[in-house]
Amino acid sequence: MEEYHVPEDADLEQLRVAVQGCRGCELYKDTTQAVFGVGVAAARMLVVGEQPGDVEDRQGRPFVGPAGKVLDRAFDAAGLDRAGMYVTNAVKHFKHKPAAAGKRRIHQTPDRTEIVACRPWLLAEFARVRPSTVVVLGATAGKALLGPSFRVTREHGKALPWPDCAERPEEFAGAGVLVATIHPSAVLRADDREAAFAGMVEDLKVVSSATAPG
Ligand code: URA
Repeated sequence: MEEYHVPEDADLEQLRVAVQGCRGCELYKDTTQAVFGVGVAAARMLVVGEQPGDVEDRQGRPFVGPAGKVLDRAFDAAGLDRAGMYVTNAVKHFKHKPAAAGKRRIHQTPDRTEIVACRPWLLAEFARVRPSTVVVLGATAGKALLGPSFRVTREHGKALPWPDCAERPEEFAGAGVLVATIHPSAVLRADDREAAFAGMVEDLKVVSSATAPG
């Protein structure tokens, strides 16, 4: 793979431009654009998903498609306000199988190499936002922040250890609240969507109670 560098002194807006030139893995080749995080630069809460989907790839913003609608409903139900968050993905390009003309492209889960190749962008976002709370949506986001042994089925709905990051020890020093839940797409795929959604909301309530003032 080609060499690439995440610019050290760049702010989030400059990173958003720079990521368009990333050639750290092959995923850029068949996408519209890299989809960088959006939200409040000084957000207390960082939300990390897997990768952009078909709609996000076209629009250039995370969680604006069907999974995003589920996520918005779940945040509402858990009493969390998306307006105060910075929302991003572990992997910035859409990994997919080609689809027939006019059909939606089929999502593919990013592999370890792609997660690792994209991690410097995620760490750069983390370092700029310096959140006190992190919400991990699904296994890929968990593996990107907490390591390859992360399992969302085992770890969801509880306060997990703050990620320690050998590459950027200073920015990751200290502690905050990190909670994982299932990915909103898993709600859409579940046989019992209502139960899956309710489970996701329960997990997110752990975040709201851990971060409630007072
Ligand atoms: N799924 C994700 O993980 N992120 C998005 O932005 C959209 C769907």
